[in-house]
Amino acid sequence: MAHAASSAAASPAAAASFGRRNGGGSGRGGSKGRAGWCRASSLEPPKRSSPISLQFPPRIGPLFWPWEKVKIGSLTVSPMGFGTWAWGNQLLWGYQEEMDRELQEIFNLAVRNGVNLFDTADSYGTGRLNGQSERLLGKFIREFPGSKAERDSIVIATKFAAYPWRLTSGQFVKACKSSLERLEIEQIGIGQLHWSTANYAPLQELALWDGLVAMYEKGLVRAVGVSNYGANQLVKIYGYLKSRGVPLCSAQVQFSLLSMGKDQLELKAVCDSLGIRLISYSPLGLGMLSGKYTASKLPPGPRALLFRQILPGLDPLLSSLRRVADRRRKTVSQVAINWCICKGTVPIPGVKTVRQAEENLGALGWRLTPDEILELESAADDSPRQMIQNIFQTR
Ligand SMILES: NC(=O)c1ccc[n+]([C@@H]2O[C@H](COP(=O)([O-])OP(=O)(O)OC[C@H]3O[C@@H](n4cnc5c(N)ncnc54)[C@H](OP(=O)(O)O)[C@@H]3O)[C@@H](O)[C@H]2O)c1
Repeated sequence: MAHAASSAAASPAAAASFGRRNGGGSGRGGSKGRAGWCRASSLEPPKRSSPISLQFPPRIGPLFWPWEKVKIGSLTVSPMGFGTWAWGNQLLWGYQEEMDRELQEIFNLAVRNGVNLFDTADSYGTGRLNGQSERLLGKFIREFPGSKAERDSIVIATKFAAYPWRLTSGQFVKACKSSLERLEIEQIGIGQLHWSTANYAPLQELALWDGLVAMYEKGLVRAVGVSNYGANQLVKIYGYLKSRGVPLCSAQVQFSLLSMGKDQLELKAVCDSLGIRLISYSPLGLGMLSGKYTASKLPPGPRALLFRQILPGLDPLLSSLRRVADRRRKTVSQVAINWCICKGTVPIPGVKTVRQAEENLGALGWRLTPDEILELESAADDSPRQMIQNIFQTR
């Protein structure tokens, strides 16, 4: 494939919008949703005069040191990835195909700045757009304008749905091959089971596990992981895969300052003891931890129903996030994502705009202090409502 030559040229305006290492910039609390950009000499957020070029996305480096990269099994990934549930989802996330060019800018910007982990799923995309998230990633990888080394570093983590008609390991292998076709790649980085069927169809569970073994043995995936597995079920699948000679590398679960109950902490402890990497999904609480929504300013669509229940009790946590963000000259979103990194997890915030991607990249390259972490967690404890857990989450 022919690709435009890579360029390290970075526009000063874009350079200004990233979090720099060592907290070297300025910024503001993220309550306005777009402030908090880390600039060397001004508190003003940068103005984006024109969209970032697909050919030459800026490279502002380094956002993190090489030793801050994270191992997931044998794979090496950035301390944060990006989630792509919204890419193709009209119902919950208001996706429109006109967004594709901006989504491609997000992808290019992320890869050019060392973020190489992208989470997707074969069920992402609503109605006729089913599979759209994987298809878009396939196109974006193919058209990526940077170097081959950058492209080769990309790790796609996709998830296979435990649909009731996927009853044999062969059907999971078939599902994996369909994902490979949509993604236009020869090997998936992490093949993950999207959820366990242990709660409602325990007999199907073994087909899922054998499916992972088969795709790993056939070399269709470089590593395998699970999603929405609780601690007990995780120990079981870990033991089974181990007996088949397959290492379990990751466990993806809802993990954020809004979702840090006993179950999540137990899962994290089990992951640590077994050498499994915890990937935090919904690290921004579906957007609530960006600080831009209030009980009287709700997002369109079904999220409003959930937010209406949770936001009124969230004042202690959002105030604490703002306080820490202001002190550190970061944004509320950056602090919420950084908390996930400080807990030893790999967050995968969802992003819909270049502006959000730029801001979330500013969660890298610095660390909350232990006191700030305690302050945030105590405020989270004081916020009565937690996120509703995924219906497929097992114990
Ligand atoms: N395994 C599973 O079952 C599962 C379940 C859920 C998610 N996931 C994965 O985890 C990823 C992330 O989770 P998520 O997308 O559910 O939720 P999230 O990361 O908590 O929130 C993402 C949303 O917050 C808003 N946002 C992001 N950055 C922002 C910023 N800097 N400022 C203001 N708003 C910002 C955007 O929506 P708006 O602009 O519309 O507010 C964005 O779509 C998903 O994309 C998916 O890959 C996996």
